[in-house]
Amino acid sequence: MTRAVYDDAGSGLAVVLLHGYPFDRSMWREQIDFLSAHGYRVIAPDLRGFGETVAQTSFAELSGPSHRLKSVPINEVDRTITSMADMAHDVATLMDKLEIVDAAICGLSMGGYVAFEFVHLFPTRARTLVLAGTRAPADNEQEKQARAQQAEQMLAKGMGDIAGATLPKLLAARTLTEKPGVVGRVREMILRADPRGAAAAQRGMAARRDYSGDLPGIRVPVLIIVGHQDPIRPVTDAEFMHRGLSDSRLKIIEDAAHMTNMEQPENFNRALLAFMETLDNTAGASPPS
Ligand code: MLT
Repeated sequence: MTRAVYDDAGSGLAVVLLHGYPFDRSMWREQIDFLSAHGYRVIAPDLRGFGETVAQTSFAELSGPSHRLKSVPINEVDRTITSMADMAHDVATLMDKLEIVDAAICGLSMGGYVAFEFVHLFPTRARTLVLAGTRAPADNEQEKQARAQQAEQMLAKGMGDIAGATLPKLLAARTLTEKPGVVGRVREMILRADPRGAAAAQRGMAARRDYSGDLPGIRVPVLIIVGHQDPIRPVTDAEFMHRGLSDSRLKIIEDAAHMTNMEQPENFNRALLAFMETLDNTAGASPPS
């Protein structure tokens, strides 16, 4: 069992926000405030190995086979892996704890992979999916190798180089020049990430399944969001998911790259709310104990 640190705000139908890599729940600040003010209960966990969940998982007195970050000797840390399914199970465990039967599951990038695993493992618990800046296919060999190298680099040298190299891809040119506050928040999130948790998640992403075959079987409505200038998960990835899903809508956000929700929070929130309002906004009742 993983004791996730999470935000829980508002009341109504639950919306679970799953952050990307190597970020934490603070990336959802604008969505937590907005959705909780519009009649939703918003749950935003730090996924396993990220944000404050690192300290808890590393030092708390927990045990169990799925609890991999804890009690790993330092010389074995480079073999740990956090799978997308591990994270999806953590989300379900957190929902159990909070007595949430089903929820809208919204994931950005890595969070989207976790959302794919969640709806696969717990199909009745996802009321809907929001897939932002993510993709269905698995990594090719070259991408897997790049992840392995980045994991080693992080463990050896920390997060500094990664922050410098990835910021220009994560954020659109306009964000980089006009929104220093957003640039600073993204940089800080990367720099404070625990390299051990990030490396374990990199290995988990490299090992993730190809979700393309899942698309036709996803029976809930899906909102796909993508930044028009996203070089990491470009519009073509979003269009691929849109074609494969039976009930989806696609929102392309201008002047945004990978971090659509932070770069253009008003547009992101408006799209999210318009989509949520098409659903039955009643919170699922707790199962009888
Ligand atoms: C993310 O933002 O979560 C990452 O870009 C996901 C990935 O590396 O595939």
